[in-house]
Amino acid sequence: MHKNIEFFRFRRLRKTENLRKMVRENFIRKEDLIYPLFVVPGKKVKKEVPSMPGVFQMSIDNIVKECKEIEELGIPAIILFGIPEEKDEIGSDAMSDDGIVQRCIREIKKEVKDLTVITDVCFCEYTSHGHCGIVRNGDVDNDATIENLAKEALSHVKAGADMVAPSDMMDGRVKMIREVLDENGFTHIPIMAYSAKYASSFYGPFRDAAQSAPQFGDRRTYQMDPPNLREAIREVEEDIKEGADIVMVKPALSYLDVIKTVREKFNHPVAAYNVSGEYSMVKAASKMGWIDGDRVATEILISIKRAGADLILTYFAKELVKKEIIL
Ligand code: PBG
Repeated sequence: MHKNIEFFRFRRLRKTENLRKMVRENFIRKEDLIYPLFVVPGKKVKKEVPSMPGVFQMSIDNIVKECKEIEELGIPAIILFGIPEEKDEIGSDAMSDDGIVQRCIREIKKEVKDLTVITDVCFCEYTSHGHCGIVRNGDVDNDATIENLAKEALSHVKAGADMVAPSDMMDGRVKMIREVLDENGFTHIPIMAYSAKYASSFYGPFRDAAQSAPQFGDRRTYQMDPPNLREAIREVEEDIKEGADIVMVKPALSYLDVIKTVREKFNHPVAAYNVSGEYSMVKAASKMGWIDGDRVATEILISIKRAGADLILTYFAKELVKKEIIL
């Protein structure tokens, strides 16, 4: 027999599940997860989104039930998206103290005590044209929109939101929101900024769920161009300067390099959004019997953690925690 000196035997520590666990480098804790929910008008509504099996549009009563379950499962946070009764040119419902999200937060807060309620701050679900702000001359008017975003964020917080997450990609919105929250006595409310949010085709199924597809053009004049990495760093830098508490990269899977670079360059908590298209692809292939959906989902989430994300927004959260795949 030859002596084992020429090469290293990595397989020694892969022999049993116990050994593998002992030397495992990355983990997904349920505390790392944020679960997205879509609230719609009406009562007793629970309507599955066709392109996102397992994801439902729910009326306020069902959202409250869902939140209780989420809290019991130990998932610490939800992010709430609203689909209003009526859309208009400026997305008035988003800023109204009686808007769908504001009413929903008040009901959640009556029944569920510890769950962190984050709100998505944007206009695309609320405007008749489906763009993320006020449209002038065929494009979104930045400075007029950020004023309204701050009003939207303030009304969410007044209704009881624990954190706001602007996803619009207008310039200067984090600063504007921070100022308005502070002026109104909400210095303690954190902002999770969608900082490096790309103009991605992976949002397709979400736009079914949120009924928010733009009616003309696309979002490329405000969301980032997918080939750019250096620009993402500048976006994150700027949001941190403006007062962001958590910075987000979105989507996650095709942007793991962005997550990794942001992690290396900054010390703020980093969130990554495992978006609708990333979810739906797994569900579709799994339904066809081509992949093991649970294992692929877990592998995707761990890749996002390994890249350096602290938090993951994911539609898989509830299902994987329930099946005890994530502990
Ligand atoms: C709103 C918003 C979008 C998503 C989160 N917030 C859609 C978009 O920008 O078109 C996408 C989430 C997903 O695809 O899961 N602006």
